[in-house]
Amino acid sequence: MSNDLRIEAANCTDALSPAELDAARVRIIAAQHTLQQRTGAGNEFLGWMDLPDSALLEMADIRSAAEEVRAHSDVLVVVGIGGSYLGARAVIESLSDPFDHGGLEVVYAGHHIDGGYLTSLMKHLAEKRVSLCVISKSGTTTEPALAFRILRQWMEERYGKAETARRIIAITDARKGALRKVADEEGYRSFIIPDDVGGRFSVFTPVGMLPIAAAGVDAEGLLEGARTMREVLQGTDPELNPVLQYSMYRDAFYRAGRGIEVLASFHPRLHYVTEWWKQLFGESEGKDGKGIFPAAVSNTTDLHSMGQYIQDGMRTLFETFLTIDELDDRTVVPSASDDTDGLNYLAGRAFSEVNRSAMLGTALAHRTGGTPNLAIHLRDGSARSIGALLYFFETAVALNGYALGVNPFDQPGVEEYKRNMFALLGKPGFEQLREELLKKLSAE
Ligand code: PA5
Repeated sequence: MSNDLRIEAANCTDALSPAELDAARVRIIAAQHTLQQRTGAGNEFLGWMDLPDSALLEMADIRSAAEEVRAHSDVLVVVGIGGSYLGARAVIESLSDPFDHGGLEVVYAGHHIDGGYLTSLMKHLAEKRVSLCVISKSGTTTEPALAFRILRQWMEERYGKAETARRIIAITDARKGALRKVADEEGYRSFIIPDDVGGRFSVFTPVGMLPIAAAGVDAEGLLEGARTMREVLQGTDPELNPVLQYSMYRDAFYRAGRGIEVLASFHPRLHYVTEWWKQLFGESEGKDGKGIFPAAVSNTTDLHSMGQYIQDGMRTLFETFLTIDELDDRTVVPSASDDTDGLNYLAGRAFSEVNRSAMLGTALAHRTGGTPNLAIHLRDGSARSIGALLYFFETAVALNGYALGVNPFDQPGVEEYKRNMFALLGKPGFEQLREELLKKLSAE
């Protein structure tokens, strides 16, 4: 059993029959066999499985680029969308002080098309020394390409072409795509996204590791956690292998009519881990009319919004609590002489204890209300635990995808909005679709 992560299922066993759980166990163990043999759908994209080891080989180059960024910059702008930015953001925000960026601020662009955001960003960057890391596997994604165009021009006006080229790092395909072409022509330092690793599984490639190292996060600790988890997940005994347990419950709940999973964290710093998880699970499972809808809440904040629905709305949910066991106990509730707010009963107790009670109380309330729940316990909030967690989730979604009968490693549905957007914007080659869409719009 892993020391970094464990599953607790006390609040969900009575929601599933032994027969349902047995059937799910059989499907997940078969899926594990398929994954380990590398014989399933999308097996040309299984490079992520070996990254905890292979990524180490590249760490010296990554460290040197990261050190250079840190030496010459106050801010690093990470330009990317989906799998090309969420992993880095999840790790950086879960392992950094929210109010002290330790010498290098990391900001994000290219993850939407809001022009006002870019205007504000350039204003924010005006007095600061700036480096930029542009990340796109295809090298042609519209959102980061647009943001990169504007930010690159802004940097060239400010620094001149040669200095801008020294301040830009490109992470993209080895051969294909517009970004590879620009990087080669302009002489940017560049890193490669391996062909056999899909975007949302790329956190342990330079896509994640370069911004993570630049942010001053313990990148080696992260890989060590992933490596240890990889060993644990080889096991075939569900009692000792947390991914078999998690995937088994997910599979059983889905087939029992619970098509929505809510990932609930009680630690704001895990917010982007839950965003990364949403992308990983949504894009991997949601296809062919199948798949669990991944939703996420940040508690206790969202207990004052989504909590009502989870407690009392349509009974189609199950919930997974994501919690850190060893917390910082230093913040303690002070005593107050007047006790006007009636909180003296908590005086001397750590906020972490209050938070834990909120979580336990919520889990029991939701169970009673008809939302069964699991918990994923991380031993602590270290880089090692976060690395273990990310590798655990990547493996889980592969198992659940195979058990569902879908290819967890493609994302055909993501193309549809792009075609419509290109047609509406008048991109050459989309003329016929443009006419069809304009007709539809005018009929509405
Ligand atoms: O998981 C995926 O493959 C996607 O979410 C991509 O990461 C996202 O669409 C960005 O693609 P690209 O890196 O090609 O710009």
